[in-house]
Amino acid sequence: MSVRIAPSVLAADFAALGDAVRQMEAAGADQIHVDVMDGHFVPNLTMGPAIVAALKRSTRLPLDVHLMIEEPDRYLEAFVRAGAAMVTVHAEVAPHLHRTLQVIRQLGAAAGVALNPSTPVDQLRDVIGDLDLLLIMSVNPGFGGQSFIPHSLEKVAAARALLSATGSHAALSVDGGVDLSNAAALVAHGASTLVAGTSVFGAADPSAAVKALRAAAGTT
Ligand code: DX5
Ligand code: ZN
Repeated sequence: MSVRIAPSVLAADFAALGDAVRQMEAAGADQIHVDVMDGHFVPNLTMGPAIVAALKRSTRLPLDVHLMIEEPDRYLEAFVRAGAAMVTVHAEVAPHLHRTLQVIRQLGAAAGVALNPSTPVDQLRDVIGDLDLLLIMSVNPGFGGQSFIPHSLEKVAAARALLSATGSHAALSVDGGVDLSNAAALVAHGASTLVAGTSVFGAADPSAAVKALRAAAGTT
């Protein structure tokens, strides 16, 4: 299985995001992960649709937009119009998840659901056929640079089991504290996409870090 590498620009220089995504494209990244935070669902504020639109003008890579916001339904159209190829909402703030996923697909984007470390995978059983991406948070969302929660490996395995049992081809993404020390184990447990912020943009050579992550994940 080929693993997708998704650098998170949360850890990039916000004053030079265009350069960051062009560098990632040249380094062979598969998609750009964009962390949207609202200061309510998570205690941090980051970017909105205008930044996504600017990134869209700077790269051909698909934009993987991770909404860490309350009432995500209010903003789905704005993010897809801005250029999001994938829109991921948090299950914890989407009471009508089936409808939300349908709206994302109707807008023309891939529909994703993210789960906090404390939210069980089983909660998605009844919408598994409606999602294109399942994102397992391996830190509590809100900030980059946190330590990987070891239990996330078991959770990735549980998510892979659920996807397999239901015949889903959804991507299985892991986000938070992903680096060279856990990439291989995450893939072995079933991850198909690795999101990495600090381990890429915090490295002395971010392009080399993307390549090293891909090598560690066991793909070329
Ligand atoms: C955390 C974000 C992550 C973040 C990961 O709330 O969802 O995407 O960028 O950053 P690192 O890789 O530094 O843990
Ligand atoms: Zn994220």
